[in-house]
Amino acid sequence: MRKLTKEQEAIELGKVWMKKSKDPTHDYGHAQRVTQNALKVFEELKENQPERFKEIDPGLVKLLGWWHDCYKARFEKASFRDLFIEGRESELIFRDEMKNYLKPERLEKVAYAISNHQKVFLYVFRFGKIPPLLRIIFEADGLDAMRRDRHKMIIGQNPNIFRKLFSFGMHQFMTIFYKLFLPFTEYGRNTFKRNKAIKPLNVPLD
Ligand SMILES: [Fe+2]
Ligand SMILES: [Fe+2]
Repeated sequence: MRKLTKEQEAIELGKVWMKKSKDPTHDYGHAQRVTQNALKVFEELKENQPERFKEIDPGLVKLLGWWHDCYKARFEKASFRDLFIEGRESELIFRDEMKNYLKPERLEKVAYAISNHQKVFLYVFRFGKIPPLLRIIFEADGLDAMRRDRHKMIIGQNPNIFRKLFSFGMHQFMTIFYKLFLPFTEYGRNTFKRNKAIKPLNVPLD
C-alpha cells in the first residue's frame, strides 16, 4: 500500500475525529458534504478567477472541510454561546492536533479560515472581498446548512418550545440569507438550483 504523506494523514485524522462526533448536525456526514461542496466551489472559483485562488489547492480545501467543525463535534448540541466561539475553539483544537503534521504556512492558512468560518458574512460588510479559503468554506457550509432535514434535526434536538421557535427562526433567517446571497456568487448561481434536487448523501461509516 502507498504510504500517506503527513498532510494526507492529517486529512484522515479529520475524518476519524468527525466519525467520533457527538453532535448529529455536525457529524461525519456534515463534514463530508461540506468538503465535497468545497472542492466543487474551489474548482469553479479557480477557473473563473485563477489569480485570486492561485495559492489554494485541494489539500488545503480538504483540511478545512474535515476540520472546520471539530469543536462542535465534542458536544451533543451546540449552545447559544457556541455560535460566537466555535470557530476560535475549532482553530485551537486544529492547531494542537495538526502541529506535527502540517508545514507552518499551510497550517496558518487553514487555521485562519477555521477560526473565522462562522462569522464570515461580516467580511462582506467590512472588506468587500472575502479571503479565498473563507469564501470557499462559507459557500460550502451554507449549501449544507440549507438542507431541510438538517433543519428538522436541529429543531427536534431542542427540548422546549421557545428554543424550538428560536431555532426555527434562526434557520429560516439563515435560509433566506443564503438564498439571497448565494445566487449572486459564481458557485451559487450555478449550483443553487442543482442543490435543491440533491438528496442527502448516504455516508459510508467504514
Ligand atoms: Fe461551524
Ligand atoms: Fe459546518
